[in-house]
Amino acid sequence: MTDLDCLIIGAGAAGMMCATHAAGRGARVMVIDHARAPGEKIRISGGGRCNFTNLHAGAANYLSENPHFVKSALARYTQWDFLDMVGRHRIAWHEKSRGQLFCDGKATQIVDMLLAEMNRSGARLQLGVGAAGIAHDDAGFHVQLDNGKRLRAATLVLATGGKSIPGMGATDFSLRIARQFGHRIADTRPALVPFTLSGPALDSLKPLAGLAAPVRTSLGKISFSEAMLITHRGLSGPAMLQISSYWREGEEIVIDLLPGQNAGQALEEIRASAGRKNVANALATRLPARLAAHVAARAGLTGQLAALDACDLALLAAALSDWRLTPTGTEGYRTAEVMLGGIATEGLDARTMESRLVPGLYAIGEAVDVTGWLGGYNFQWAWSSGWAAGTAI
Ligand code: FDA
Repeated sequence: MTDLDCLIIGAGAAGMMCATHAAGRGARVMVIDHARAPGEKIRISGGGRCNFTNLHAGAANYLSENPHFVKSALARYTQWDFLDMVGRHRIAWHEKSRGQLFCDGKATQIVDMLLAEMNRSGARLQLGVGAAGIAHDDAGFHVQLDNGKRLRAATLVLATGGKSIPGMGATDFSLRIARQFGHRIADTRPALVPFTLSGPALDSLKPLAGLAAPVRTSLGKISFSEAMLITHRGLSGPAMLQISSYWREGEEIVIDLLPGQNAGQALEEIRASAGRKNVANALATRLPARLAAHVAARAGLTGQLAALDACDLALLAAALSDWRLTPTGTEGYRTAEVMLGGIATEGLDARTMESRLVPGLYAIGEAVDVTGWLGGYNFQWAWSSGWAAGTAI
């Protein structure tokens, strides 16, 4: 039995950040992870370049039953604080768009930076060791490991992330332990995930698989203007991933293929310059040709654009800017970037991430009911919540 001040379960983004700051304050800290390498999701993130934060990160970019919960941690450990650390480690970065910051080099630079920080602060790391079960008494937390050994710690941090990509070792461990200690779990579901389609909608789109286009996608009052990608199974790309976090089974999404433009006005302009072409070819002056043909077919219009009457033009404008689709489902945790829901925030102190039910128990990162938009927001939550717990332990 090893005695520790703090045991952190999960050497992901949040766990490593927490370890650095807890050990930096003098605590005897150990991080365990059942994976063979730490920060595996960091390694594969952002196409291998890690979109490690967003310049505009704020409470509005997060989904949670309590939208105010993120405010304290985000305000006390900001994107600028993380950027400072990136700068100290001389990691070159660039802004891609919309405040999204990526490494110029490999995402593993971020993992190496976190490992170096842990090392400097004296936090220990044990890999290839999973937590199997936890008991709590006056002597602290007793952690049963999957190698048969046990650890005892005064404080315990649940940092095992969400359920997405189980093939990479994602588990619901933090959720199970939180529930065991009386915490409520806000309903979980895959988020930032591609949509699947079926029936005629899929049949008509399958030939367009691989095609990407800028769109504005909406669901009620929420909308995102980003790229859409048509896949063999449905719709993906940032626009679809973003709206998927808000979508529920049976709901219709609306796609505008001319984001930022008035479709009626755009058709007038196309008519003036390419009115003698048939509808599909005329639309192809503004849209990828295969998508233009799909719009024309969906509107059931084949003749010359110039020959359309006002009613047909209105139909075409709607096919362009008010394309309504009801996804069959999503690709699920297999490909979802994150998990929506998690340990309900009312059971946690927003300043410290400590349990309100079990003193000494903390939960951070994706395991908590806080889910960011696509664009570096999820890592910023991992850094901020990890810092909040680490500096409170
Ligand atoms: P994280 O998942 O990072 O770490 C949890 C750790 O716990 C893992 O190392 C796991 O092995 C370990 N673990 C699980 N169960 C255990 C057990 N029982 N015992 C011991 N260890 C256990 N976000 C972003 O902001 N920018 C981006 O570019 C991307 N890109 C991206 C790409 C892909 C493909 C995915 C899947 C996700 C992203 N994300 C992202 C989301 C981001 O990766 C995610 O939100 C954070 O990694 C969450 O950090 P955590 O530390 O909470 O969990």
